[in-house]
Amino acid sequence: LDPTALVIAIDGTSGSGKSSTSRGVAGRLGLRYLDTGAMFRAMTWWLLREGVDVHDVAAVAAACGRPVIESGTDPLAPTITVDGVDVSVEIRSDEVNAAVSPVSAVPEVRSLLLDLQREVIGTGGIVVEGRDIGSVVWPQAELKVYLSADPDARAQRRALEEGGSDLASTQQSLLERDRIDSGRATAPLTMADGAVHVDSTHLTLPEVVDRIVTLAEEARGR
Ligand code: DC
Repeated sequence: LDPTALVIAIDGTSGSGKSSTSRGVAGRLGLRYLDTGAMFRAMTWWLLREGVDVHDVAAVAAACGRPVIESGTDPLAPTITVDGVDVSVEIRSDEVNAAVSPVSAVPEVRSLLLDLQREVIGTGGIVVEGRDIGSVVWPQAELKVYLSADPDARAQRRALEEGGSDLASTQQSLLERDRIDSGRATAPLTMADGAVHVDSTHLTLPEVVDRIVTLAEEARGR
């Protein structure tokens, strides 16, 4: 197996530590990094800015082909642009948090971003994080990880990331996204066939990264 062709799929719920973990693994192994959640967030940010009702499935489906969304794949400095404008900060707002799950459930949005995701993955050498990477986007990935953590641990991490936002409301917003992401008809969050389950509740970030790097080295050796 050519190490540059390695694809590592990391799926899991909101706040399970996917982004920090995926960036850490990519850095350690010299791989690129793709945050597919950022693509759904960028689409959502654009729809909100255009005044599209995000709960109107037909309106979202009709509009979603218009923005040009591009992802940078450097794990040290990931970027996401919409029509050439960097929206890395804007896509983490409460407004986007509240609207991203309904937008992600629209099949036209998924199919459009799926094509983009596969284009970025290309010939591999990349860690890709999301909800459906191992199940739908790249089922042939050499390593698939399903990352989870207890809701309390996830809310604490996310609230910290968001600069001390309220714990109870952060947890409520995470659980609401989980509910929609796991329940939708198209490509719901699920543990992919062949995925390794890593529970990060009682592990530090370096420990989770180590664990996955070891799994990747085993996959490379096969
Ligand atoms: O990973 P995140 O919290 O930034 O993802 C934001 C939303 O995007 C999440 O609630 C569901 C959606 N998403 C998805 O449907 N499929 C993916 N592969 C990645 C994210």
